[in-house]
Amino acid sequence: MEADSREMAFFGLRMAVVALALLFRQFPACSAAAAACDFPSIFNFGDSNSDTGGLSAAFGQAPPPNGETYFHRLSGRYCDGRLLIDFIAEDLRLPHLSAYLDSVGSNFSHGANFATAGSPVRPQNMTLSQSGYSPIALNVQLYEFSDFLVRSQYFRSQGGVFTSLLPPEEYFSRALYTFDIGQNDLTAGLKQNMTIDQIKAYIPDVMTHYSDAIKKVYDEGGRSFWIHNTGPLGCLIYIMDRYHLEAPEDEHGCLSPFNELAQSFNARLKQAVDSLRTELPLAAITYVDVYSVKYNLITQAHKHGDYLSTSASFFRPNNFSRTGHLIGFQQPFVACCGHGGKYNYNNSRRCGFKITVEGKEIVIAKSCEDPSVRVSWDGIHFTEAANRWIFEQIVDGSYSDPPVPLNMACHRMDHRDKSMA
Ligand SMILES: *[C@@H]1O[C@H](CO)[C@@H](O)[C@H](O)[C@H]1NC(C)=O
Ligand SMILES: *[C@@H]1O[C@H](CO)[C@@H](O)[C@H](O)[C@H]1NC(C)=O
Ligand SMILES: *[C@@H]1O[C@H](CO)[C@@H](O)[C@H](O)[C@H]1NC(C)=O
Ligand SMILES: *[C@@H]1O[C@H](CO)[C@@H](O)[C@H](O)[C@H]1NC(C)=O
Repeated sequence: MEADSREMAFFGLRMAVVALALLFRQFPACSAAAAACDFPSIFNFGDSNSDTGGLSAAFGQAPPPNGETYFHRLSGRYCDGRLLIDFIAEDLRLPHLSAYLDSVGSNFSHGANFATAGSPVRPQNMTLSQSGYSPIALNVQLYEFSDFLVRSQYFRSQGGVFTSLLPPEEYFSRALYTFDIGQNDLTAGLKQNMTIDQIKAYIPDVMTHYSDAIKKVYDEGGRSFWIHNTGPLGCLIYIMDRYHLEAPEDEHGCLSPFNELAQSFNARLKQAVDSLRTELPLAAITYVDVYSVKYNLITQAHKHGDYLSTSASFFRPNNFSRTGHLIGFQQPFVACCGHGGKYNYNNSRRCGFKITVEGKEIVIAKSCEDPSVRVSWDGIHFTEAANRWIFEQIVDGSYSDPPVPLNMACHRMDHRDKSMA
């Protein structure tokens, strides 16, 4: 009997060791004891890369064919379908985020999205119609967030339908706070004809504003932060269309000075995040290098793709090479939705642009036949298929600093000893 139970105990111990070893393999950088985070909510701050309806609610809907792939209706997104933030929510088993500014049909029980297309970190001194930049800069998004926090608790305490539309207080401290913003601060300088060096010179000021926003969220109780860096500006069609005659290309055809500018922003952002880890002792801040993922996708498009991404490509077995690999994404430097020119992009005839012929409106900047094999949706934003591919690269922590997967991003990791607290 005694021997038996000892053997059982030993067996149990061995199983535990095996389980630990498996855990270690899955999350090599984390202590095996760290549990998945169980985020009950997401609060997002950003620009069009993660806008799920903010700009559309206040300044007019993103026109068709936006929304055609997944939602099959206008969804406030500058995309044929879902954005990275949608895949993040789905992965955490949470509903897609309602835009804070959307007063119709919104449900904030599991978070809210403060991002609007065209948002910069720093408030611009120009109106939307003068510059194209959203007046809802990051500081305004923070005002909205603070107001949402207080008012949601007041109305929740009144009971009724509000209890199922608004998050309980604990959802604010347990939430994942996501940020994807900065691209518009770089292009705002370009718009004013500044040189790359002049733009680089104001990046530290942008970072001060960015860090302040994160500190404010922390002061309001936020603890888990997931921060995307900015993408390869010099590989984006709207920049290439404007500057390809004057700026040098890299080996893949992207415009080097603009990618260097983005990387310079990202280096500063990484530094800012490092300082914040010291200043905010209870914060777990994950810096996610989406720049590299997007750069790989655009420059190696033909090697990447996922045959299960959409039903459309699922039914195209010809997409596979002899070795069984997918032939992949196509034409990374041609916008799927647009009208004319080298890149199928014309700034004055962007995706959804209409003309009137004999009293009838016709969309002339329409979608390509198959967005599921394309990288660029409209010359500025990625297709749903590309967003899904990017998400799959970042979800496991491969591009994160520290290298934590999305569902472990509540764990603070000490950089020196690489153990989790
Ligand atoms: C807007 O103007 C103010 C006051 O002149 C200045 O401090 C600020 O830096 C300007 N913002 C931008 C983004 O240029
Ligand atoms: C809001 O969404 C939550 C989660 O999806 C759901 O349980 C709740 O019923 C929704 N509330 C309303 C009023 O639709
Ligand atoms: C920038 O340069 C372009 C072309 O040279 C010019 O049309 C535009 O007015 C300039 N913009 C500003 C803000 O100076
Ligand atoms: C872009 O559209 C404008 C009309 O809005 C047109 O004049 C121009 O030629 C177009 N550019 C290209 C490259 O097709």
